[in-house]
Amino acid sequence: MANYPETPTDSAGDVDEAVAAELEHGRWLFAQDCVFLLGVANLDQLPPGDLPEITFAGRSNVGKSSLINALTGRTTLARTSNTPGRTRELNFFRLGAKDGTALRLVDLPGYGYAKVSRDMVNRWTQLLKTYLRGRANLKRVCVLIDSRHGLKPADHEIMDMLDEAAVSYQIVLTKIDKLKVAEREKVLAQVTTDLKRHVAAHPEVLMTSAEKGWGVPELRARIAAFAPRPA
Ligand code: GTP
Ligand code: MG
Repeated sequence: MANYPETPTDSAGDVDEAVAAELEHGRWLFAQDCVFLLGVANLDQLPPGDLPEITFAGRSNVGKSSLINALTGRTTLARTSNTPGRTRELNFFRLGAKDGTALRLVDLPGYGYAKVSRDMVNRWTQLLKTYLRGRANLKRVCVLIDSRHGLKPADHEIMDMLDEAAVSYQIVLTKIDKLKVAEREKVLAQVTTDLKRHVAAHPEVLMTSAEKGWGVPELRARIAAFAPRPA
């Protein structure tokens, strides 16, 4: 299953040209430089809002940092761990060419359960919510959901908040390599149905595996839609 989810084809079996162009733009963008800019523990340290931001949110351990590494093709850019609570700051990365076709990727600490004190979790959650609600250059939040667990109360809480603040978000299922095909289809159907009542949610749910690279070209293409195309 080298090419999952399937690349759409037209009736002649050729890859649709518009889809192919989007995938190519994504491939091109993520082949550009990606550098760590800064880690932020307080909102007064945020970088200026001069570049579009795409932010990765999700419960602890869903695979946010791993997916950023898979997207950028760099295994150690964002730090990952088996222990929930690895990412402890808002980490900003600059992705793009020097001519200004750039974006920022933001790796967030997990919300909900983490192997750190309740106080720390509460502090992060407050920080995340304030950032997510109040950032004009935040173009899209990728809300990552572990495909084995589906949507949990903490996810609904974040999604409700994004709906209310009119912040556009897309659900990205992670770790689909851990599920059988029938199980994937089941969680995809459940999440897709749930999304109908969330006004700021993009209707498409992406299925990904950072480990196998599945769905990564498609997610690159969705993100690249927020960056200007190269001349
Ligand atoms: P926090 O920063 O603690 O919130 O976690 P995170 O969401 O950044 O998760 P991270 O990327 O650190 O990954 C957590 C664990 O899940 C690690 O042990 C990863 O190796 C594993 N993992 C991440 N993505 C995948 C995947 O696609 N497939 C499998 N099988 N494991 C994955
Ligand atoms: Mg992390």
